[in-house]
Amino acid sequence: MVYPLDLKNKISIEGKMIGIQLQNIKCNKLGTGIKINNQDVDDSNSIADLKNFPILDLLDLLKQNHRYYLDKKLLEIDQSLYSLQKNHPFSNSNNILIVLSLFYIGYKTKLESHIKDEEDNLFPYIEKLVKIRDNIFDKREVTQILNSYSISKFNNSHIDIENDLKDVRTKIIKHSKGEDLPFQFKIFLAQIEHFELDLNRHNYIEDEILIPKAIELELTIKRRYSI
Ligand SMILES: [Fe+2]
Repeated sequence: MVYPLDLKNKISIEGKMIGIQLQNIKCNKLGTGIKINNQDVDDSNSIADLKNFPILDLLDLLKQNHRYYLDKKLLEIDQSLYSLQKNHPFSNSNNILIVLSLFYIGYKTKLESHIKDEEDNLFPYIEKLVKIRDNIFDKREVTQILNSYSISKFNNSHIDIENDLKDVRTKIIKHSKGEDLPFQFKIFLAQIEHFELDLNRHNYIEDEILIPKAIELELTIKRRYSI
C-alpha cells in the first residue's frame, strides 16, 4: 500500500506513516518535471533510452537537474533542517541534529563544487567538441581546445560524491540508534533518501551515457585532425 506524503517534492512512501522504517522507504516518482524533446523524463522513461538522445540534449537535461538541485531541492532540505532545529521536542535529538547538520553542510559544499566543475569545465568543453564536429573551428582553434582540456582530465580531477549522501544518512541513522526520533526527523531522512535516488540517476546519466559519448566524439575529432 502506498501512502502519499504531501511534501513539496511529492515523495510517496511505501510503509506505515507512523514509525516509518527508513530501510523500507521507496520513492516511486522522481517528479522533476524535466523534459527532453517534449517528453517527460521520469521513471516511465527507460534511462537506457537516453543513449539515443543527442549529446546536447543530454547536457540540457543535466543542466536542468543541476538547477533543480541548487534552486529547489537543496533549499527544501535546508528549510527542513532549519525547521527541525527550531521545533524538535526531543532532548537527546540535539546531538543527532548537530551531527546531521555538520554532515549535511559538508555534503552540500561538495555537491555545489561538483556541479560547478561540470558546468564550468566539462559541459563547455563538450559543447566545443560538438562545434568542432560541425566544423565551426579551424585546425589551430581545434588544437587549442583539445590541448586546454580533455575528458580524461575531467575524470582524473572530478571527485566522486555518489555515495556521500548515503554515508550521511547511514551515519545519522547510526547516531540515532535506539532513539524515538521526532516524525519531522524521519521525514527529513526520507527527503535525503529521495534526493539520493535522484542523484544516483543523474550520476548514471553522466557517467554511463554522457561521458562515453563525449569520449567517442573526442576520439573521432582527434583522428580527423590527426592530433
Ligand atoms: Fe552533474
